[in-house]
Amino acid sequence: MEKKSRILIVGATGNLGFEIAKASLQASHPTYALVRDSAFSDPLKSLKLQSLSDSGATLLKGSLQDETSLIEAIKQVDVVICAVSSKQVLDQKLLVAAIKQAGCIKRLIPSEFGLDPSKARISGLDRNFYSRKAEIRHLVEAEGIPHTYICCNFFMSYLLPSIVQPGLKTPPRDKFTIFGNGNVKGVFMKESDVAAFTISAVDDPRTLNKAVHLRPQGNVYSMNELVELWGSKIGKKLEKIYVPEEELLKKIKETPYPDNMDMIFIYGAFIKGDQTYFDIESPGGVDGTKLYPHLKYTTISQYLDTLFQRNKFWRMSKVSWGIVIEVCKLSYAEFEIELLFGLEALGLNTDAKFVTVGVP
Ligand SMILES: NC(=O)c1ccc[n+]([C@@H]2O[C@H](COP(=O)([O-])OP(=O)(O)OC[C@H]3O[C@@H](n4cnc5c(N)ncnc54)[C@H](OP(=O)(O)O)[C@@H]3O)[C@@H](O)[C@H]2O)c1
Repeated sequence: MEKKSRILIVGATGNLGFEIAKASLQASHPTYALVRDSAFSDPLKSLKLQSLSDSGATLLKGSLQDETSLIEAIKQVDVVICAVSSKQVLDQKLLVAAIKQAGCIKRLIPSEFGLDPSKARISGLDRNFYSRKAEIRHLVEAEGIPHTYICCNFFMSYLLPSIVQPGLKTPPRDKFTIFGNGNVKGVFMKESDVAAFTISAVDDPRTLNKAVHLRPQGNVYSMNELVELWGSKIGKKLEKIYVPEEELLKKIKETPYPDNMDMIFIYGAFIKGDQTYFDIESPGGVDGTKLYPHLKYTTISQYLDTLFQRNKFWRMSKVSWGIVIEVCKLSYAEFEIELLFGLEALGLNTDAKFVTVGVP
């Protein structure tokens, strides 16, 4: 069996980078993480680092700004995956130079993990969000560094928790704002699934110098379809309020940066159709779902099920607090939830016909 590549992850304390590090370890790749000093004194990040180290990762101190640490780390591995945040994309220039100098890297996966920057059609609105990622692509290619780009579209933790309602953290239960005609489709992928696809691509000759697109069945929905699906889960007919393209563009212009970025991404995906308008297998692109059919991934419907469970739990705990308050008011009375909260409260807990609260 061919030896598994040694993988260096830059950004392993971050949201996606941690998932990639776990996936790398899970797939038995010798795994290294380049970690800034400051991360070790952050309680949450140090817990992440401890768990990676306990699972066999080698932690190397360094930073994207420190060339010596970069070259030392790069020389120990075959593959580099960078998962720094979008704000730090241009900080990868020194990494590219160090990889060129070290000359031993078989594959670089730069920090992209979103819409393919060469397909974005909202330039002028996005404050160079995509052009910065494209600039790193051009540099990597100009330096002749073997690479793979991962184009996963939206993470599920971004926008999907509110079902694409900017400013909200949970989905409404009555009215939804739909941008455009609501029929244009976008794509959502769970971060741990993005990580698993990324690690599968690392040693695969089919993905060398290619963009791996993730657009699997079950993860491609229009806004109308998302709202219908949510309505079917909570058993309600939901009202849709349509915001036409011109109105959204006006709102984007009136809202200061960076507060308008959610709307800009929504505009790109759900009005312009930037995540789905092109054929994945056009030159330079490969379809991750077809390459790795064995990889199981979370569908949008499954993700909404978890939202529904969370929503139910949250509302039930609100009900419980209500009970506590009422108990205080009634002072040692015995009562039934149905009387206090009506039928809707009972509907939330479908397992219980009646909940009786006994007070000593
Ligand atoms: N498609 C989507 O919906 C979506 C959503 C969010 C992000 N993304 C993309 O996913 C990628 C990762 O983003 P993220 O949100 O997961 O990032 P993140 O959570 O902000 O993590 C950033 C990581 O980079 C590390 N880092 C920052 N500066 C560094 C430096 N100078 N040297 C070494 N390490 C450094 C941080 O380390 P410290 O612990 O030291 O700070 C941290 O581990 C980006 O390409 C982003 O555009 C996509």
